[in-house]
This record gives sequence, structure tokens and C-alpha cells, in this order.
Amino acid sequence: MCFNVPVLKSIPTEMNTPTPGYADVVIGTQYGDEGKARVIDDMAAAYDIIARFNGGSNAGHTVEAQGIRLALRQVPSAVLYPDKILYVGSGCVIDVEQLKEETDTIKGHGIILSGRLKFSSQAGLVQPHHKIIDAIIGGTIGTTKNGIGPAYADRAIRMHENQITNIRLGDVLDAPEKFLEAIKQNYYQAAAQYRFADHGLEIDIDAKIKALKTSFDEVKEYIEMDTLFLQKRCEAGAKILFEGAQSFMLDVNKGSVPYVTSSPTNAAAAYSGGDLPPKYHRKTIGVAKAVMSRVGYGPFTSEMGGTESEQYCMKIDAAGVPVYNRDNEKTLDPAALIGSDFAFEMGQAFRIYSREYGTVTGRPRRVGHLDLVQLGYAIAVNGIDEIVLTKCDLLLHYVDTAGGDIPLVTKYMLDGKEIDYVPGATNAYGRVEPGYETVSGFSQDVGEVKEFSNLPETLQSLIGLIEQKTNCAVRGVSVGPNRSQYIPKENA
Ligand code: IMP
Repeated sequence: MCFNVPVLKSIPTEMNTPTPGYADVVIGTQYGDEGKARVIDDMAAAYDIIARFNGGSNAGHTVEAQGIRLALRQVPSAVLYPDKILYVGSGCVIDVEQLKEETDTIKGHGIILSGRLKFSSQAGLVQPHHKIIDAIIGGTIGTTKNGIGPAYADRAIRMHENQITNIRLGDVLDAPEKFLEAIKQNYYQAAAQYRFADHGLEIDIDAKIKALKTSFDEVKEYIEMDTLFLQKRCEAGAKILFEGAQSFMLDVNKGSVPYVTSSPTNAAAAYSGGDLPPKYHRKTIGVAKAVMSRVGYGPFTSEMGGTESEQYCMKIDAAGVPVYNRDNEKTLDPAALIGSDFAFEMGQAFRIYSREYGTVTGRPRRVGHLDLVQLGYAIAVNGIDEIVLTKCDLLLHYVDTAGGDIPLVTKYMLDGKEIDYVPGATNAYGRVEPGYETVSGFSQDVGEVKEFSNLPETLQSLIGLIEQKTNCAVRGVSVGPNRSQYIPKENA
């Protein structure tokens, strides 16, 4: 039999399909608080959708524009751009009561969220017992007590006997009664297992579920049931910017385990947690801070003041409240401390100058010198294409330190051998001995500099050293908190 099949001689050049968009990923390369939100804010104009892929209300991003200052926790950073879609992917866990407060505050500034704020139906729900468990067991890591770890643990457990523990936003939207009852049963199970009563942490779960339901009803319009939402938009041409929360060294698998958060924070996780196939990936941008910080316990090789600093910053009273905070350090004079021979005091001065305190608790962040071995490792593991170096204005204070120079970690020694990676074993990481190189300090206030070539020569050579040691281009630097204080390096 012979069919009369038309022969396709060439592929039509004018297909009636749009050119697909692409996605870029921004992650923090250190231990968090590198200033990712301001980098996202600088970049967002060039994208259609800003998307989150990990974490939840443990994140804290401050954005500022048009006289509005917002401390964000679950809503993506580009909220002040009225035309951007804000997407929160299935890799996140959502606290709906906190979300209701956050969206109320945002709407209170006249910002419209309807139709542009989207939460994946597959994002997990932070249930009441998660925060209580975190309060009981999170202290040894120094978690933010937002229930993030227990929420991800319940996701992995999936079911406890015949009770669903992994409850997602879409589940509650689709079958509220069934899943609110499951939340209640999960509370009872956890209350017995973790002995909430012995810790004085029992709650009226019926009242709590009622409050949760009220908040859920307020935010449910933002739940996106189409699990292909982002993919369809990208296929239709949308440009997507993924915004990492926490940072690479807090990655649940690859960070300084166990002193990490409970989600993957690495660049590749943007695609699994952000609901887009990796074929749309274009490039990865890493954000690093010129003077590093860390909150929570765990190894921090270049910490000024070492263990003493860690213990001081993490000290809590019997009620779990930080003993030292922004207020009691206000009485200290950084100008007197900065020249101290005692690294702990020099660290205090840097903390005061750089205002390194937790946004919610005011607890002091641990501070350390820029570690180029750790940065190079983060760049390698994540395939980072470009670095933005933030808070370069702070480097000015090194000129007043006892040495007067800027120390940079350029070598890791582990048990007498040089290594070029961050060890994968917890204790080994703690044993790393850093080796330092220095560049000269500078005394020019760089806050008003607009051109890269006008930065002090020593700062330019520091950036050259970063590029050389990490094999990665520096895309630009920030020299202050305002949008105008970002200097792209292309102008050099
Ligand atoms: P969790 O994410 O609340 O479980 O806390 C685990 C660790 O990650 C703790 O050391 C926290 O201080 C740290 N962490 C969580 N979120 C952030 C963040 O947004 N910035 C910096 N550190 C964070």
C-alpha cells in the first residue's frame, strides 16, 4: 500500500512559537547575610519573575526603595517592582500565619500582590508542632526557631503510621477539613513524642488550628495549583531570577553539617525546588561579603576571636534569649576596640561598624576575615560564573587595626597537609588551620565612588587576588546600602 505523505524538505524557519526565556540563579556563597536581597534588587529590573526555591520564614531580607523599607521573610525580594511576578517554589516550607502578617504589611504600603504573588501548591506547610519541636531541639545548632527543620523532616517522613505528616499548601486548599484534622493529629503525636508538657510548651491546638485556618483563608488566593506554572511562563519567554535563601555553607548536604539549615541552598537546587527544568539555566551569580559573618554554631575558620567569639555571640539565658545583643554592644566604642591586639575585640569593632546583628533577635553575628579557600570551594561546587562582593566599604577599618593590613585566608592546612577544599567531615572542618596573605589597608572612604577605576588601588588588587585565587570574575562591588552604591566592574 502506498500513502501519499507530504515530504518535509526543510524545517520551517518561522514557527509560531515564542523564544523560550531563561533562568539565572543568585546564591550566597558564605554563611548567610551577604546582602543577597540588595543584589537581587539591583538585578531584578531585567527579569519577569523572581522566584524562591528553598527555606521559609527563617530567611530575612530587607529591601528599600521609594521611601519604603520592608523586612521580608517569605515573599521574594523584588516585591517593590510592581510588574514582577513573585514565585515561591515547591522546595519551600510556608508559615501561613507569618505570611498573612507579611502580606498585610506589604499591602499596607499600597503594594498590590493579587495576581502576581504565587506559592507552589507543592510547598510544605509549617505546622504548629514544627515550631515547638524546633524550640526543644534547635538550640544546639542555634536555629532560628521557625520550625524549618521539623517541617522538612515531616516532608521526608511522609506518613506516620497512617497519618500524613507531609502536608502541602495545595492539600489544605483542596481538602481543608481532612488536612486540618491531620495537622491536629500530628500535633498530638509530636506532643507525646517530644513531651511538650514537660517543656511547658503545650498549646490549645483547637484554637491554634482555628487561627491557622483564618490566616490560610487570607492567603489562599496566592496558591498556584498549576504545577507547570513557572515552566509554561519560561517556555513563553519569561526571564526568571532565582533567589537563594540562607547560603551555600548552610546547605543541608554540602555545608558545615550539622550546623546548617535543613534545605539544599546550592545553585542546582534552584531547579528542583523552584519548579523549572535545568535546561533553562543561563548563569549563576554568587554573592560574597568582604568581611564575613555567621549566625548559629559551627566551624568558621577565619572568625575574629575564634571560639571565644562563637561562645560570646551564641550565649543564651535560661529562657533562651541571647545574652549579648545590639543594645549592650551600643555601649562599646569601636574606634577604641579596632586597634586591639585581641582579635575578639577587633571582631567586636567590625561587628559594630557593620551592624552585624540578627534582624529579629538583635543577636550578635560572628565576624571573620574574607576566606578565599572557602569562597573558591563555593564557586567550584556551584559552578558560579560571577561574583558580587558586598560591603567593601567596611574594609576601610582594617587600616586602624594593629596590623593595618587586610588579611585574606588563602590556604587551608588539615593535619599538616594543604587542602583546596572544605572538608566533608564535621570534626576535620573544625581542625583546619588557615594561612593568610595580606593586602595593604586603605584610608579612602569609598562610599561615594562611582567608577571601579576610582577605587583605591589596594582594593582593586584585592579584587584581582579574589579573581586569581578563585578563578571567577568579579561582576561588581557594593560600597554601601543604597542602590546607587553598587559599582559594576565592566566600567573598569
Ligand atoms: P534554621 O534554618 O532555622 O533551621 O537554622 C539553622 C542554621 O541556619 C542556624 O545557624 C541559623 O542561624 C542559620 N540560618 C537560617 N537562616 C538564615 C539566614 O537567612 N541567614 C543566616 N543564617 C541563617
